[in-house]
Amino acid sequence: MIKLNFSPEIDEKAAAGLLREIAKDPMGGWLNLPKNIDMGEFVRIKEAAKEIQDSSEYLVCIGIGGSYLGHRAIIEALRPHSDAKIIYAGNSLSRRELDYALEKVGDHDFSINVISKSGTTLEPAVAFNEFKKKLIEKYGEEGAYARIYATTDAKKGALHDEAVACGYTRFVVPDNIGGRYSVLTAVGLLPMAVAGVDIDKLLEGASDAVTTAVEPAVKYATMRHTLDSKHYDTEVFASFEPATMYFNEWLKQLFGESEGKDKRGILPDSVIYSTDLHSLGQYIQDGRRNLFETIIDYPTDEMNAKVVKAVQIAHAEGGIPVLTIGVPSYDERGFGELIYFFELACALSAKMMGVNPFDQPGVEAYKAKLNELL
Ligand code: PA5
Repeated sequence: MIKLNFSPEIDEKAAAGLLREIAKDPMGGWLNLPKNIDMGEFVRIKEAAKEIQDSSEYLVCIGIGGSYLGHRAIIEALRPHSDAKIIYAGNSLSRRELDYALEKVGDHDFSINVISKSGTTLEPAVAFNEFKKKLIEKYGEEGAYARIYATTDAKKGALHDEAVACGYTRFVVPDNIGGRYSVLTAVGLLPMAVAGVDIDKLLEGASDAVTTAVEPAVKYATMRHTLDSKHYDTEVFASFEPATMYFNEWLKQLFGESEGKDKRGILPDSVIYSTDLHSLGQYIQDGRRNLFETIIDYPTDEMNAKVVKAVQIAHAEGGIPVLTIGVPSYDERGFGELIYFFELACALSAKMMGVNPFDQPGVEAYKAKLNELL
């Protein structure tokens, strides 16, 4: 179970009201997802993962934002073993990065998992075109199409239409789940299963959290709300495990896109200690006092645990509110719980702030401008 080192007074009635609002929201489908997994789709995901592992040395995962960060976070944190390695593409428009990924795949056998809920996002579309060309050159059209796995909307979008026309294996991003809340759908489950993550255990952890994470999530959201009202406008997520760097990236996206709107929101930042004690640590200890720190305390070795303690004390003495979130285990179950806990806490926080956790008008604005310029 998630453990906190703080216990603010909570308004249970108000929290229950917000939970009801989230449950009723057309984009609140992730709330009970771990308990309502579509078993047919889950079995298909596992079969596809096995097929990819048997046929490919690489799986090229193409996607950006919520269509990529969640599964990368878990794969990098757990470093699972698999016969198919994951390569990420389509998460920037850098030609250099794309060429590097294409070269890395080289002559190896590979498959593609292209992930885009809208099916129209430019970054993944550009990378998909290039990798599809490479796949067709290597395997011919029919062989190539059999190696493409498209995770997208059930009914609409350019990717959906192409997938239907070409007969790609298709997985669905449910209508009622937005990108950054989608890691426990096929968006995250297929790449994670290919990489060797035990997705049964991950979902078990998340499913337990549907009950056990409610209280800590309400407390954490309440604490953030209190700090926000006292002008602590920046939250630094701190982890002492370097492999969780992408989990921090997922958190920044989750909170940044969910809360940062209508000129409101707490700015999320992140550090990996002790590495960053030798860079941002100076600012955190001694710089402007507008930030609070949220330590994600993974079970760790004795020496590292001592640094956790030292940082908790030193930063508190430096005038920083230090919140600690204790993670029960560094494995699939633990991360399943953690994902659900943060999704729930984030949605509650945004609601407490008075913004819609499930839209991202700012992202849409940039997409529209870029399309105009192109
Ligand atoms: O969380 C979100 O909704 C966004 O970060 C999207 O995931 C991101 O913009 C990618 O969108 P799409 O999956 O439609 O390509």
